Amino acid sequence: MRIPVIAGNWKMHKTNAEARALCSDIRDGARNATHCRIVLAPPYTALGAAAEVIRGTNLILAAQNVHWEPKGAFTGEISIPMLEDAGCCMVILGHSERRQCFGETDQTVNRRLRAVMKSSLDPIVCIGETLGQREAGNYQEVISQQLAGSLDGLTGRELLRIILAYEPVWAIGTGRTASPQVAQEVHLGIRGWLSEKFGAEAARQVRILYGGSIKPENIPDLMRQPDIDGGLVGGACLEAESFLRIIHYDSRSTGGK
Ligand code: PGA
Repeated sequence: MRIPVIAGNWKMHKTNAEARALCSDIRDGARNATHCRIVLAPPYTALGAAAEVIRGTNLILAAQNVHWEPKGAFTGEISIPMLEDAGCCMVILGHSERRQCFGETDQTVNRRLRAVMKSSLDPIVCIGETLGQREAGNYQEVISQQLAGSLDGLTGRELLRIILAYEPVWAIGTGRTASPQVAQEVHLGIRGWLSEKFGAEAARQVRILYGGSIKPENIPDLMRQPDIDGGLVGGACLEAESFLRIIHYDSRSTGGK
């Protein structure tokens, strides 16, 4: 069964004091949320503060990126052992902002992923087409290429530790959500690709999140789609009130698909 995941990507927001306040509000409001897994991804500097507040709760700590080398002369980078030490259990890889602003490619995502697979961290691997690629009509091909490059060399067993996040670039931070039907079509295509490559059973078990302008108002319809297993939330995760409404997207929901 695929237990839903609601993940908040804080991006470059929140000081330590702000992180503590947000984490404690989410912790209190999400205490009874057993229908989904809740992931918080603060910036590196706030990981320690967040870890203190959520220790022993149902909230899972994630980082927004990681380097593939365990240590060395890599100014400005953060390693897997550092994230483990800070209390992280997960890490986001290949977010479109990393791809667009910081030269991330499928190959570098793959290097990070392979290193993460040897660690205790579980990855959320992001993929998604740009507006130009969507309008050109070849977005399924673009996504297949991103999957092939990012997941290169992965075994079916390893695949089960991965969460994928489909985030159409044109929907991130723009207020323009992909309609539930448009997102479902891509999610189904991703599952089909995974099935061919890793087998039907592995593909059936992998969670695929949607991301891009998720709000309390649109999450219920997205979650009703058979192949959408949760959300990667940006802007709406920065206030406890809206993130909690997203977490509690459907109080009648008892869990996975
Ligand atoms: P958004 O960001 O919810 O602000 O569109 C989503 C993301 O980038 O993960």
